Amino acid sequence: MQLKHIIESQQFTVPLLMELFERTRQMEKVVARGGTRDYEDKIMATLFYKPSTRTRFSFEASMHRLGGKVITTERANEFSSEVRGEHLEDTIRIISNCSDVIVLRHTEEGAAKRAAQVSGVPVINAGEGAGGQHPTQALLDLYTIYKECKALNGLSVALIGALDNGRTARSLAYLLSKFERVKLYFIAPPGLQIKPDILSYLDHHRVEYELGESLEKILSQVDVVYRTHIDRERLQRRDIDLSTYNINVDTLKKMKSNAIIMHPLPRSVEIDPAVDNDPRAVYFSQSRNGLFVRMALLTLLFENE
Ligand code: CP
Repeated sequence: MQLKHIIESQQFTVPLLMELFERTRQMEKVVARGGTRDYEDKIMATLFYKPSTRTRFSFEASMHRLGGKVITTERANEFSSEVRGEHLEDTIRIISNCSDVIVLRHTEEGAAKRAAQVSGVPVINAGEGAGGQHPTQALLDLYTIYKECKALNGLSVALIGALDNGRTARSLAYLLSKFERVKLYFIAPPGLQIKPDILSYLDHHRVEYELGESLEKILSQVDVVYRTHIDRERLQRRDIDLSTYNINVDTLKKMKSNAIIMHPLPRSVEIDPAVDNDPRAVYFSQSRNGLFVRMALLTLLFENE
């Protein structure tokens, strides 16, 4: 299956996802035996214009576990020649001369696509813009759902948070829409609801969905509770009680006994640490799955060269 760059979730077909997940399972075994030297001739460049803990570390750890090498700048807005006026396109041309794959996190929507157009090596979108996409996060999210729920068809999934700018929720909605009998609940405070481009895509693909403002109303119906951040400063109405969107021990009582709680992290107040030890709280294993999924993605890209 040809995969040259990873720019957006819509690129992934169900057969490609299944191939990726089979490869991801193999990567779990590779990591359990300490990694491999199979990709020791490969160099990965990580170019991050915005802060990251999980994405950058897991990509870099992935490359190390595959035996490859990493060149990096974590504050590319300060430590690349952008400060001297260099355009992203020229920066990418130069870095692609020095590496076999470029992992890019950028402030602007569309940056990964622009980078891919001039890069001589694969470009991976590691999250871009305020309302763009974060496809590798969505892939690890989907892998986590598949692993925990043992299915992808027929699931009810609640995506909760500031969904208009929620690039992880946006990317995950695209991926979930590929499966049969999926129902999506978009739960957001007024003014922060998922954007019409996603809803048009779901309509076009005949995916069932509901929009709502209350988490409590749908808790007992869903298999996956996927909470993301809400930025209080963006709320249009100051009277909204954001705590009603938070996950705590009371929330657990209203959920299905086999539902799961996910979060792309980092969290602040959205999930009470008292929930962490509940078997339904899978956000830390979700984050760990990022290592295996990103290893699998890198090997897929290298094999398609
Ligand atoms: N989930 C996620 O993208 O986390 P980071 O911003 O820490 O990479």
